Amino acid sequence: MSKFWKPGSDRPKSCLVDDEEGGVLFVSAPSSSSSGFGYASLERQRQRLPVYKYRDAILYLVEHHATTIIVGETGSGKTTQIPQYLKEAGWAEGGRVIACTQPRRLAVQSVASRVAEEMGVKLGDEVGYTIRFDDQTNPGITLIKFLTDGVLLREMMDDPLLTKYSVIMVDEAHERSLSTDMLLGLLKKIQRRRSELRIIISSATIEAKSMSTFFNTRRKTLGQCPGDSAPNQLPAILSVEGRGYTVEINYVEEPVADYLQAVVNTVLLIHEKEPPGDILVFLTGQDDIDAAVKLIVEEAQHRGGRYTDLLVLPLYSGLPRGEQDLIFAPTSKGKRKVVISTNIAETSLTLEGVVYVVDSGFSKQRFYNPMSDIENLVVAPISKASARQRAGRAGRVRPGKCFRLYTEDYYVKEMQPEGIPEMQRSNLVSCVIQLKALGIDNILGFNWLASPPPEAMVRALEVLYSLGILDEDGKLTSPVGFQVSEIPLDPMISKMILSANDFGCSEEIITVAAILSVQSIWVSVRGVQKEFDEVKLRFAAAEGDHVTYLNVYKGFLQSGTSSKWCYKNFINYQSMKKVVDIRAQLSRLLKRLGLVLKSCEGDMQILRKAIIAGFFAHACRLEEYSQNGMYKTIRGSQEVYIHPSSVLFRVNPKWVIYHSLMSTDKHYMRNVIAIDPSWLTEAAPHFYHLRQPNPVPY
Ligand code: CDP
Ligand code: MG
Repeated sequence: MSKFWKPGSDRPKSCLVDDEEGGVLFVSAPSSSSSGFGYASLERQRQRLPVYKYRDAILYLVEHHATTIIVGETGSGKTTQIPQYLKEAGWAEGGRVIACTQPRRLAVQSVASRVAEEMGVKLGDEVGYTIRFDDQTNPGITLIKFLTDGVLLREMMDDPLLTKYSVIMVDEAHERSLSTDMLLGLLKKIQRRRSELRIIISSATIEAKSMSTFFNTRRKTLGQCPGDSAPNQLPAILSVEGRGYTVEINYVEEPVADYLQAVVNTVLLIHEKEPPGDILVFLTGQDDIDAAVKLIVEEAQHRGGRYTDLLVLPLYSGLPRGEQDLIFAPTSKGKRKVVISTNIAETSLTLEGVVYVVDSGFSKQRFYNPMSDIENLVVAPISKASARQRAGRAGRVRPGKCFRLYTEDYYVKEMQPEGIPEMQRSNLVSCVIQLKALGIDNILGFNWLASPPPEAMVRALEVLYSLGILDEDGKLTSPVGFQVSEIPLDPMISKMILSANDFGCSEEIITVAAILSVQSIWVSVRGVQKEFDEVKLRFAAAEGDHVTYLNVYKGFLQSGTSSKWCYKNFINYQSMKKVVDIRAQLSRLLKRLGLVLKSCEGDMQILRKAIIAGFFAHACRLEEYSQNGMYKTIRGSQEVYIHPSSVLFRVNPKWVIYHSLMSTDKHYMRNVIAIDPSWLTEAAPHFYHLRQPNPVPY
């Protein structure tokens, strides 16, 4: 194991200061000496939050300014309190609704249920939430609505001026998610047409000045009628003083070779040496989080004694509700909670009781290469801004410690100061289609907070054109383009669904689409891989994963949607319930689009052709003399491999189409289906032509 300045021992002088920018983190005066809120009433808890002191100031600013920018440390009460203050001040009267957006689905659900609890109402009534495929609101009754920024963008398609909202709070704006950036650009347009609309932009760390410049429309509206009581167009900026405690930063002395193992060792060491207090660990995704949980639990069991006091819990989006609740529950006496999380706990969610943070220095990030047209989730180093946020999580209830699994030298010299906005590292296909559907034709000229790279934009236009979604003039085609924009899925899936309608296999394809929309229908199987592989064979189809999924779905229905059946077959019951629900919603949506569902009655060739109609750009061919199953994408000649979770792993058919790529040490194709190459030229003659004997891209 790499060496630490060990927890429990005196720290060397050189790590007293965090960095050149601000010294030790978050040293503002604590407002109370209580260690957590365990026993205070909800009302008392609300009043103790730092944001409470700013209640009147916030309400004043929102009333008088079109845009208010609020910056405040994570946990200061922005997300849960400000919507309630607005409601108390009357912003939800007269049938109006207060909206608060979040980039993450799990955060939406979690804060909504917290606010419902604080207000003493049933979730879904006065306080509700909407995320894709899960609407818990009650029109006419819901006053405060939490939603993802993506869902709010979708709502604009039916109601371009978002007329039902009186205030829209765009939260976690520093994350600069693709949807947040689009939303900010569009809200600025809406503001010009709706002077009564108020916008709040809130965040833990934000370049408030540049955001303010962006929203400053004062000059443009000088021509307003005299006497007009429109709000001040100059955005107000309010900074909420936090009440974080000092966090001592520790670095490793040598770079760690295996951050997963380093996490395990560090957690155990903290438990051994440090006084009580929960531990929050930042890892990258479900896979390494599950692995770390398992390793720590095993090691703790092996050591026995006080190590059995550890309560180790994973935290990532897609976690079932029951498990989420455990994360927020106070830790029982004598126990030490260890939460192993993605960067969702960086700013979106606050866990009380955390005193120690272990920062792996990595997160999963989206990267897109417009040249190869490959977008994937990559484990990549975080920025200094993220590292500081992560460290800050240790100073909630009392002075804490942060253990960074990277060297100080690396932090100071190599870590980037800020992350890159998602807009500049994403595939822009969905973004383009949504803007087009909102009637914004000149997308490059759109008022972006940060301009997307022109190559990515061109690539998106090209892909949409090849899918028949845009015409030569860059306008949505009718009906396909407009229909695709109505379906809240990736345009390639939407196109697949619409083509399935022509092929006569829409009953099957919406099942496939629903399954591809949930994280995974299998449960993680570390340790019992062999049994799992055997069980999987029961469902495996020679055609590939999509057809295998149809078999699973059929089995699930035949079992009477039984949880026991799922358990026996290593299938995630919660995911399957979601699949059934999403499928029903897709079925209703297609009916609304005037399409009639049809079954292909087991003709899997037809089904695969429909998949190709959406995913022809993801075609790959096995390298002729490859010993290790290396494929190359037809377009771009990228090296790719079938992911071990696929039923086609080691089968290696010559031609395949993949659904998505995942990159770790290599590019792995997830959800793969075998095809006949002639189907490619048949489905996309404009994209591939036949150079005997194989199709090649133009
Ligand atoms: O948005 P911000 O980070 O400023 O804070 P918040 O999410 O509004 O959280 C304010 C307080 O509510 C924190 O002390 C949280 O621990 C608490 N909270 C909670 O106990 N359970 C939740 N599901 C959400 C928040
Ligand atoms: Mg928040």
